[in-house]
Amino acid sequence: MSTGKFYITTPIFYVNDKPHIGHAYTMVIADVLARWHRLKGEDVFFLTGTDEHGEKIEKYAQNAGKSPKEFVDEVVQKFKDAWSKLNISYDYFIRTTDEKHQKIVQRFVSELIKKGKIYKGEYEGWYCFYDETFLTEKELKDGKCPYCNRPVEKIKEESYFFKLSEFQQTLLDLYDKNRSFLSPNFRAQEIINRVKEGLKDLSISRTTVKWAVPFPDDDKHFIYVWLDALLNYLSAIDWPDGDKFKKFWPADVHIIGKEISWFHCVIWPALLIANDIPTPKMVFSHGWWTVNGKKMSKSFGNVVDPIEILSKYKSDELRYFLIREVPIGQDGDFSEASLKNRINGELLSDLGNLVSRVLKLSENSKVEIKGDVLIQPIDVDKIDNLIKEIKLTDALDEIMSFIRRLNKFIDEKEPWKLKGEELGQILYNLLESLRIISILIYPFMPETAQKMADQLGTKITGIYDCKFKPFDGKVSRGEHLFSPVK
Ligand code: MSP
Repeated sequence: MSTGKFYITTPIFYVNDKPHIGHAYTMVIADVLARWHRLKGEDVFFLTGTDEHGEKIEKYAQNAGKSPKEFVDEVVQKFKDAWSKLNISYDYFIRTTDEKHQKIVQRFVSELIKKGKIYKGEYEGWYCFYDETFLTEKELKDGKCPYCNRPVEKIKEESYFFKLSEFQQTLLDLYDKNRSFLSPNFRAQEIINRVKEGLKDLSISRTTVKWAVPFPDDDKHFIYVWLDALLNYLSAIDWPDGDKFKKFWPADVHIIGKEISWFHCVIWPALLIANDIPTPKMVFSHGWWTVNGKKMSKSFGNVVDPIEILSKYKSDELRYFLIREVPIGQDGDFSEASLKNRINGELLSDLGNLVSRVLKLSENSKVEIKGDVLIQPIDVDKIDNLIKEIKLTDALDEIMSFIRRLNKFIDEKEPWKLKGEELGQILYNLLESLRIISILIYPFMPETAQKMADQLGTKITGIYDCKFKPFDGKVSRGEHLFSPVK
């Protein structure tokens, strides 16, 4: 059994609005990984939370006629409710308005000042309040924000700057030395090319935005929301002296959406290196979901609310769909029709059908469940290696292929025609395979896995237990795992 540690994070989400399916996607990816590593016996710390400061939140609260704190408290609850319905097993939920977090942000900035990495200057340029991003003239697209296509504002104010420009070579060396830092690989070149073009110092304070962490020793300034946000990964584990920091840092993987790679792959490691803190082992950027072919947006009326989906479908069905439908790393399109297809097809006809066939056969037979291993066992090491590279779609595909092989095995062996030892042998192979599947699918579909284990009379133990052994369950058939959806 592995005894390692595994620190995994999601982005902390802006709380200007309730969560949508894109946020749910990030959470499911991280949850699958956290659960897999727990099954390997590792000590896992799974962090998520909310990004609550900044101009955007300030404006949304104002429009809602609420104080920023009142406003964010309400929205945070919506995120927590959604994650509980999706069975997200996070260990800690950080809010950037937490007292502890704010103190750590200030301490981090003070350390950077002591190290001579920050200076005072003046920022003049564009700002997208929606993405909380400073933009140059060159970066604008038709005069608008290249990320969200919204109008940008011109700002000119005194600001503190972080000497990001000093870190170009250090970052290029980091990418070169640690090839998995920029994951998946096919996205790496884009970042490398941009870094090669040169880095500009980064404005890290605002004087006009007050809903933010105060800058240390300067009442006029407030810390830039992205600096505040990135530091959640350290404050949650009590940098610099806490036991958690000592145990869990560096993070094993930051899961993010591709649009925030620059912050995580360039600004974040530079900040850490500047403060002599080791860099995370991997930043994994997943792709984006569109809905019915279009970018999700209120004006198109196509924003998918995970809570609404979960009022019609099981949490496991949505989790399965999100991982299975789109090869991880790529963009994909969400539609209820494809969700239904996955449920009626793979979940119902392949997995549900297999489980109910095997349980029915075993329940009615009085034979002893034992014999030789007749089927080629599933390659658990292969799945583990795929999961190490965050190839979750491929890993799930391996499990589903094994399920289809088992259905074929039943068709070929026709166990309903067999008796005695012969039947006992086939049932042994099928029941042990189902027990192993229940463990392997647990990270993806925890409720279904538990139902399977309950009906088999076995336990979700750990990855170490995914080898054939004498079957020690006690079968009792319960309700079907999945029902057809129209
Ligand atoms: N607050 C920042 C992150 C700070 S992390 C130190 C932020 N928040 S966000 O609310 O905009 O959420 C961004 C994340 O939500 C993305 O990185 C991605 O993980 C997820 N997604 C948002 N829209 C998405 C899609 N349409 N599709 C897939 N995921 C998307 O940025």
